[in-house]
Amino acid sequence: MASRQILVGVTGGIAAYKSAELVRLLGKQGHRVIVVMTEGAKAFVTPLTFQALTGSPVRDSLLDPEAEAGMGHIELARWADLVLIAPASADFMARLNAGMADDLLSTLCLATTAPIALAPAMNQAMWSNARTQANLDRLSQDAQIHVWGPAAGDQACGDVGLGRMLEAAELAERVAGFWERPLAGMHWVITAGPTRESIDPVRYISNHSSGKMGYALARAAADAGARVTLVSGPVGLPVPAGVDRVSVESAEQMYEAVHAAVADGGDLFVAAAAVADYRVIDPAAQKIKKSRDRMTIELTRNPDILSSVAALPSPPFTVGFAAETHDVEHYARDKLTRKKLDMIVANDVSDQRIGFNSDVNAVTVIWDGGQQQFPMSAKTQLAEQLLESIMARYQAKP
Ligand code: PMT
Repeated sequence: MASRQILVGVTGGIAAYKSAELVRLLGKQGHRVIVVMTEGAKAFVTPLTFQALTGSPVRDSLLDPEAEAGMGHIELARWADLVLIAPASADFMARLNAGMADDLLSTLCLATTAPIALAPAMNQAMWSNARTQANLDRLSQDAQIHVWGPAAGDQACGDVGLGRMLEAAELAERVAGFWERPLAGMHWVITAGPTRESIDPVRYISNHSSGKMGYALARAAADAGARVTLVSGPVGLPVPAGVDRVSVESAEQMYEAVHAAVADGGDLFVAAAAVADYRVIDPAAQKIKKSRDRMTIELTRNPDILSSVAALPSPPFTVGFAAETHDVEHYARDKLTRKKLDMIVANDVSDQRIGFNSDVNAVTVIWDGGQQQFPMSAKTQLAEQLLESIMARYQAKP
């Protein structure tokens, strides 16, 4: 493994104790590591711990003439091949998003052109707070920024949920694989979000899909080096860095856009969208007036995009999703066979905590001859695990 220069930023949180092990593992991988701590971090771990592990003095002040005389903050920002903030507190993410430069770590992040990886760690309620999620959305749009984690589980405060920092070994593994581009040369076509089927110019039939699952997959595939076409129904999400988004409204538009992208050298098709199964036969040209007590809208079946791609003479490797409320595995297996798919990702959407319009998901991936379970985790993290699982089957396919 090539030796890199890694600047580890430690912010204030109980997970800071895990960063000592992280720094040790990065050193073992042969990387040169410099640690920068915030004031809050020093309340949890002493700088001496990191100094002993890295053999270099810890930097913690922007206004320390002695330290700045050695390697100033701009030199530090230039020195790093990767800035890894672990743990990244809610406060630090907010300040990074706001472009603050009121301490050494935030200033470095503004000054560096190196990639910045954030390993969030915070209480589960702080993580799911709308302001934290808004900061995360903005940060995730930035191609320079990568978000690793968090994981779900028991928290130091006694809560259970999403917000645990990834384990040191997992973060070290991410660093080891960071410069690899295993999907380079591949074209992934991914659908995301709902479709809207017009009733009249102001009303439509749709569903609760937010697009988060499909967008997370698109970002993960692009980060791994793939060319990604994301065919998206109407959602409020920003375009992930490095992704080519094609925006559509209806299932028929999605069908056309998917087939055009697949024809343009699509190697893999992942259908994470919640496509409306039916559309209105004859949408009204003008707003329907509420004159009648009852009304009937006649619907007709939409084309099945996933089946139609799998039925092409030379189909791409095809992965479907199955959103089910009962007999999840049974119905998912049925779709796998009936739609002639390579894999299907089954989610139990009867569980209100996961699936539609949630930041987390838990799925079972099923293929002919095997299956793999993924416990509840952030969709961003799950997407990376799904990518690995999909690639393993893709490479194993004759
Ligand atoms: O968007 P989020 O809020 O993040 O939520 C994610 C999700 C729950 C929407 C996602 O994980 C998911 O399960 N997507 C598929 C939802 C769905 O519509 O499943 P389905 O069982 O109705 O369809 C099976 C598969 O066929 C899906 O891959 C679907 O994209 C595809 N399909 C369905 C109908 C149709 N006309 N064309 C299709 O391609």
